[in-house]
Amino acid sequence: MDSADNFHFTLSPHPAPVPAAQRAALLADPGFGRVFTDHMAVVRYKEGQGWHNPTIKARAPIPLDPAAAVLHYAQEIFEGMKAYRAADGGVVMFRPDANARRFHQSAERMAMAPIPDALFLEAVRQLVRVDRDWIPEGANASLYLRPFMIANEAFLGVKPSSEYLFIVIASPVGSYFSGGAVSVWVSEDYTRAAPGGTGAAKCGGNYAASLLAQREAKAQGCDQVVFLDAVEHRWVEEMGGMNIFFVMDDGSLVTPPLGGTILPGITRDAILTLARDRGLAVREEPYSIDQCYADAASGRLKEVFACGTAAVVTPVGRLRGQRGEIVIGSGNGADPVTESLRSALIGIQRGQLPDPHGWVQ
Ligand code: COI
Repeated sequence: MDSADNFHFTLSPHPAPVPAAQRAALLADPGFGRVFTDHMAVVRYKEGQGWHNPTIKARAPIPLDPAAAVLHYAQEIFEGMKAYRAADGGVVMFRPDANARRFHQSAERMAMAPIPDALFLEAVRQLVRVDRDWIPEGANASLYLRPFMIANEAFLGVKPSSEYLFIVIASPVGSYFSGGAVSVWVSEDYTRAAPGGTGAAKCGGNYAASLLAQREAKAQGCDQVVFLDAVEHRWVEEMGGMNIFFVMDDGSLVTPPLGGTILPGITRDAILTLARDRGLAVREEPYSIDQCYADAASGRLKEVFACGTAAVVTPVGRLRGQRGEIVIGSGNGADPVTESLRSALIGIQRGQLPDPHGWVQ
């Protein structure tokens, strides 16, 4: 199955939709990732049969054999993307084709059967269509879509699974962070990804590996962790689930280069483009934690922000680590370059600003 014409999703005849009044109450303040819509998209893969049986059904627990490969060897990948309610009442999505492409690359890195991009996109579209009443309104609200794929062959030998389950669930969300600037802990004891590893793939294992460091960040009074490279423990790489940018006093931006250990963020890529559009100099180059502390001390480092689908653009107000604490810019996130890139991105994502790069569908 690889041509979009073949994707006939069956709508389960027995959904149990949440009553409208209850849905409205949930949408008023959904938080992040705890409220879910009525349906899910499911597509199956089996060696010899290929991708088959695309279905939209009532969201429900999935039966899984206890020997399913994902439970033992972690063959799992996912994506994060958002649908927005546009001013004209329509529904828009931001660069869904880029998510499909990255999902494909993640599948290849994890030796999983890649789902055709057109089928990935059709599953997402069908789910958004059937659950469109769950898209919240409001400046920071959106419908977060979580496509994921798991290996579900029941077999304990270590090898790529011969069966996969691709599922899309949806969750109305507000902001990922509760507001203002976040504080970040520099992890010196733990690393996220090594050269040759899975750092560039969006696989659950990368996030599992970040959790102990994230817990350490919390214990240090910080909201988030930032990792250094695994070889020299010197170069800033990535935060727990988002990319990082540094803004210098001349308005130029620095972000760590993609080199296999960093997730190629779609928001990261959009920010690079928007910054260049504004005539800002952008450097994708290694930036050491020592340089970061030195630049903060000299006043050269003016702003730091995190970016990702969930985080959008979130200012970093403080950086803490074994070298001590530095306050970035105003410390409260009201910094001009971050704010201007954030509002440009949000404006395009929600269909409120012109979309010169054709990102919105
Ligand atoms: C996203 O930004 O969509 C992610 O997958 C990151 C996660 C922290 C929610």
